[in-house]
Amino acid sequence: MADSATFLLAGVMGYPVMHSRSPMMHNFWFEKKMLNGRYLPLSIKPSNLESGLRALSSLGFSGCNLTIPHKEEALKVVDDCDDVARKIGAINCITVNPNNSLTGTNSDWYGFITSLNEEHPNWNVESGPVVVIGAGGAARAVCYGLLNEGVSEIRLINRTKERAEVLVHDFGRVVTPVDWRLRHEALSGTNLLVNTTSLGMVGQPSLDLCLDLLPTESVVYDLVYTPLETSLLFSARSRGNKTINGLGMLLHQAVPAWKSWFNIMPEVSDELRQLILNDIHK
Ligand SMILES: NC(=O)c1ccc[n+]([C@@H]2O[C@H](COP(=O)([O-])OP(=O)(O)OC[C@H]3O[C@@H](n4cnc5c(N)ncnc54)[C@H](OP(=O)(O)O)[C@@H]3O)[C@@H](O)[C@H]2O)c1
Repeated sequence: MADSATFLLAGVMGYPVMHSRSPMMHNFWFEKKMLNGRYLPLSIKPSNLESGLRALSSLGFSGCNLTIPHKEEALKVVDDCDDVARKIGAINCITVNPNNSLTGTNSDWYGFITSLNEEHPNWNVESGPVVVIGAGGAARAVCYGLLNEGVSEIRLINRTKERAEVLVHDFGRVVTPVDWRLRHEALSGTNLLVNTTSLGMVGQPSLDLCLDLLPTESVVYDLVYTPLETSLLFSARSRGNKTINGLGMLLHQAVPAWKSWFNIMPEVSDELRQLILNDIHK
């Protein structure tokens, strides 16, 4: 358990990073728990990642989160990582150990699955195949989470075929690659559709996907949370599909980090959710 007499430090390394809602979220928890501490945005260029990470212990940090573009490179820097991080091939959380070594893990999969089960508890792994669009770090975390839940078929669609093939190779036969041009047809019979690309995010083009063949009982999950309703989610909701945005994943992926850094499990409360929602709506 963290000692309330000491000053606790953690942060998020990214480039850019100032848009990140993580400081707001973690500083809310410091306040709620009445702990002396601060969670800081750390703007670290890719060329400075290793020196930035190595400085954490001497600066008194308990650890840090990682966001774009550091999740894969940081895995090469840490002294150790768990099996989850190794399988996903990327880390979003580092803990500084008492001997100053760095351990990496990945909690994006946990955030994804927890929010899926929270927002649609009736979603059933046995109700049919899942379509995952994208093959980057987030897609790998989503596939890991889905396989862990017992999903028996994932249709993986990515613009760059080679990247999809690497993911398929790493995750095994449950994941089958589908050509980007066949993405509309691949929705037939699907139980869950997940967009893990950055398409639909503020400043990015929309995901061009025709939902005509998607069953109306399917859940549509978009990892994007700015905006809260992407054009994919708008189209899905308009035709009667249940939808989930990326906010729940963002909130829940942060919980295990506190457990590793401070041995505390913080709550994803309505108050916290509202705080972040208000900031996104600003
Ligand atoms: N809600 C959350 O907590 C949470 C957590 C993690 C990530 N995310 C979000 O997930 C998204 C992806 O993150 P990541 O770490 O996986 O990034 P990444 O490793 O850079 O992967 C990006 C993915 O988007 C695809 N893509 C990008 N531009 C495209 C385009 N114009 N047309 C088709 N595909 C395109 C890429 O396809 P190619 O391989 O063809 O380039 C790749 O599959 C980001 O928006 C991120 O903010 C959200």
